[in-house]
Amino acid sequence: MDFPPYYLDHLAGGRLIIGLIASIHVLINHPLAVGAYPLLVFMEWRGHKLNRPDLDQLAYRITFVVFLITTTVGALTGVGIWISTSLFAPFGIGSLLRVFFWGWFTEWIVFISEVILIMWWFLSWKKADTPDKKRKHIRIGVALAIMSWITMAIIVAVLGFMMRPGEWSQTRTFIDAVLNPLYLPQLLFRTSFAFMTGAVFIWFATFFFTKGKQGGARSWVVERLSHVVTVATIATAIFGIWYWQAVPESMQANKSVALLSQQFSHWHDKYQWILGATVITFFLVGVIGVTSGRLLPRWALLIPTFLGIWMLGHFERAREFMRKPWVIGDYMYSNGIREDELAFLQSEGILKHATYVTHREVTPENRIEAGQDVFMISCSRCHSTTGLNGVIEKFTTMYGEESWNDDGMMLFIQNMHQTRTFMPPFPGNEDEAKALAAYIQSLRGTGETLHGAQTVGIRLPEPAPSPPPSPKD
Ligand code: HEC
Repeated sequence: MDFPPYYLDHLAGGRLIIGLIASIHVLINHPLAVGAYPLLVFMEWRGHKLNRPDLDQLAYRITFVVFLITTTVGALTGVGIWISTSLFAPFGIGSLLRVFFWGWFTEWIVFISEVILIMWWFLSWKKADTPDKKRKHIRIGVALAIMSWITMAIIVAVLGFMMRPGEWSQTRTFIDAVLNPLYLPQLLFRTSFAFMTGAVFIWFATFFFTKGKQGGARSWVVERLSHVVTVATIATAIFGIWYWQAVPESMQANKSVALLSQQFSHWHDKYQWILGATVITFFLVGVIGVTSGRLLPRWALLIPTFLGIWMLGHFERAREFMRKPWVIGDYMYSNGIREDELAFLQSEGILKHATYVTHREVTPENRIEAGQDVFMISCSRCHSTTGLNGVIEKFTTMYGEESWNDDGMMLFIQNMHQTRTFMPPFPGNEDEAKALAAYIQSLRGTGETLHGAQTVGIRLPEPAPSPPPSPKD
């Protein structure tokens, strides 16, 4: 079976595809599941206590929108993360499954109960028509809000671990993996961010479901939620700074390439400026809402909405990039090679020990095809051939259109980690570096000498290296 489809390796590297799916997922999860659910339950509860059916009705309508988005795009991208990571980073996800076994185990139970609770909460809303039933209904909502937060709290442990495993590097225990140095700051940062953006979402949605009568549901939402936005924005800024300081220095050094890309790294000052402006915008929206909410028109809320999407998207991108060259800090490189097996592979050759390759050894006849295997193993997690972040484009930027010589390319490949610390060390031997250079040259020559590397990337391996012939044969 050809999967991912043929065009993918002309399009983007594996990490980018995982990243895009994961970012959409987080953009839905944080504001809607983690941020909006508890706020909507709060609204329902106030509606019940103050005996205000208009608040209840509004909460119900907004919940319908949240329900639709989280159970469709939210759930699909959640599954998409598993599919894409298993395809593009099987060793990385395998390690994470082993280290966090009980974490994932719990997560699946929590996740399934979350799905059941959202159905139950939303679909039984109208039936809760007596005070008793209403109280029970609100409790379902509270359980849902807690489960949504726990899901995030488990995943954040994994994310922090990937960047900075901390004590786990020595002890290899589950609990040390969870309590990694980035855990608490990141969890608090994401929680505040979720409330900040979830509140703006509900506020914005309210404009579509209410008329702006004085004292109506809209005024109630603006007044209460603007307080949430203000406080959550301050918390986001504080925890964001704390989080940043817990990031290892070697990774912080990647920031200017991480936030934009090499080409744009000189824009970095501007980027920080936009980041500051985003936080200030949220803060201003909150403060204006608190002091004179009626002045804030509907469209004005689109500004923090877009800035919020932008900020979270960029945050995830930077977090993923800064971790380079690691998929799990100081333990496993982005290409799935463990640090402790690197030296061995560099002397023995990587093809011999790979799981999916066609050729186990480089020979003069198979050089280009073997080079393609080497590309798949050591470059394709981050680079496509001719698409986004394509190697052809990268070498062209370095060498220009003309003078590409194999020796220069080999030298670059074998030292790439020293000169570009965000790339892992080349994990193969000299013959394999040569074969890789030949493959890249061949791609450039005709463009189509071979099929895209990722098309043929998943195929049955040749039988493992045959044992030395026994004297009997
Ligand atoms: C961990 C991810 C990762 C892996 C694996 C990786 N690279 Fe890169 N590489 C990058 C990134 C990121 C850049 C910089 C992209 C940018 O911002 O322009 C880069 C840049 C390059 C450049 C341009 C360098 C420059 O300074 O202009 C070349 C050439 C290159 N890579 C070749 C390779 C080859 C060949 C392999 C496989 C042996 C490889 N890379 C493996 C992430 C990776």
